[in-house]
Amino acid sequence: MKRAIYPGSFDPVTFGHLDIIERSSKLVDELYVAVLVNSAKKSLFSIDERVKMLSELLSGYDNIKVESFGGLLVDFAKEKDAKFIVRGLRAVTDFEYELQISQMNRTIYSEIDTLFLTTSLEYAYLSSSIVKEVASYGGDISHFVPESIIPLILERVRR
Ligand code: PNS
Repeated sequence: MKRAIYPGSFDPVTFGHLDIIERSSKLVDELYVAVLVNSAKKSLFSIDERVKMLSELLSGYDNIKVESFGGLLVDFAKEKDAKFIVRGLRAVTDFEYELQISQMNRTIYSEIDTLFLTTSLEYAYLSSSIVKEVASYGGDISHFVPESIIPLILERVRR
């Protein structure tokens, strides 16, 4: 059984994330979308809210599971018996950080490999932070996130 983990903050999930999830789910038997519990980082949505949003959006995929995790990603990978981590690369600016993390992960858990998927061009500029910023100024975010979560984002940024 080929299992992979796609980790992230997903605060909120964007079309860029969903594109990587859909494409990587075809490469493996089982994909865990893993939402990082990070109390040090100020987030717009709670962990439970992010897991719920992703679970609803991905309910149509039989081989995708959504869970939260705290601590080291490689420990979560061991727990799930996953040998692959999936990460999306938008631009060369992502590369240095991603390379460092993937090498660190492989140093502390030699059985893990990171698969990098290049983001589809239409989402190359997209990030959760940019979505939050545009929403906070009342901009149209319908090109960036699924329609079902737009009201949740708008309600939260207006607070
Ligand atoms: O969506 P993000 O914020 O870019 O995701 C970053 C993430 C979750 C992949 C990364 O912060 C992570 O794996 N955190 C867990 C702690 C860990 O294992 N760090 C890697 C060793 S330095």
